[in-house]
Amino acid sequence: TLQQDEYKNRIKQLLKEKDACLVAHYYTDQVLQELADETGGCVSDSLEMARFGNTHPAKTLIVAGVKFMGETAKILNPEKRVLMPTLEANCSLDIGCPAEEFTAFCDAHPDHEVVVYANTSAAVKARADWVVTSGIALKVVEHLADQGKKIIWAPDKHLGAYVQKQTGIEMLMWDAACIVHDEFKAQRLLDLKKVYPDAAVLVHPESPDPVVELADMVGSTTQIINAARDLPNKQFIVATDRAIFYKMRQAAPDKEFIEAPTGGSGATCRSCAHCPWMAMNGLENVLQALEEGADEILVDESLIDDARRPLQRMLDFSA
Ligand code: 13P
Ligand code: SF4
Repeated sequence: TLQQDEYKNRIKQLLKEKDACLVAHYYTDQVLQELADETGGCVSDSLEMARFGNTHPAKTLIVAGVKFMGETAKILNPEKRVLMPTLEANCSLDIGCPAEEFTAFCDAHPDHEVVVYANTSAAVKARADWVVTSGIALKVVEHLADQGKKIIWAPDKHLGAYVQKQTGIEMLMWDAACIVHDEFKAQRLLDLKKVYPDAAVLVHPESPDPVVELADMVGSTTQIINAARDLPNKQFIVATDRAIFYKMRQAAPDKEFIEAPTGGSGATCRSCAHCPWMAMNGLENVLQALEEGADEILVDESLIDDARRPLQRMLDFSA
């Protein structure tokens, strides 16, 4: 629409004027992903978002995603201004792992190396030895186990269970889940596989184990997009946020993508195959962030150094 174009043009102009750069996650609306691509920003998974924000020279980062992504950008770049379209955009994993309880849990097991998923608050990261994303979790845990370390894993129980199963390494686990991936249902997926017998099943490891068990490929959002491009199949059943289909279609234009089934649909399920927090990001609030400097991410000074250490470790490890 014309209105949409007006928003986009205004945002493009302000990004230049304010030496700002737009970093968007694959789960945000297509229009934001397009805008990030068109303006030399970045559309990616959470690992690459962190790396990009860390290396791009812009003074201001506009992070379209959820709060932990904005905080990660700020922790890695305290001298930059980090704005988000809305600070309300959270994550059930972050919410499900309150720093005080988590600290007490870690204190009760002082002989354990603490590995936390990127989907956590700055305070939780500050208590960790390592931060990992889904793209690198297996490698980091294997690396630690090779050194004979005992491991605390938090907060995603499904990703933790997947890592445990793949590596055979027992971990002490926190109990939280992603409300989006938790909705995928194995029985219904089995039924759908019968309808599309030639389709490859691509699953994000935040999904429950019975769903992961049916996968041809399990991986982070970037790994899912690459699989769509690289696997020979023409059809794919995809168990992750449907906003990723935009990039999957770009990567493999002649292929067909089908949503993996969830327990509910429409109004009966607020979080079915699309993250309600990611959905809070739009052109209007991106423009507002640029115009007003609203919704700036600030991380407590006392946490920044401690939270940066485990994050930087992940970036160095993956480099
Ligand atoms: P990725 O690291 O795969 O981008 O996942 C982030 C996320 O929030 C998935 O729900
Ligand atoms: Fe968190 Fe799940 Fe949303 Fe990702 S999709 S931000 S893990 S609630």
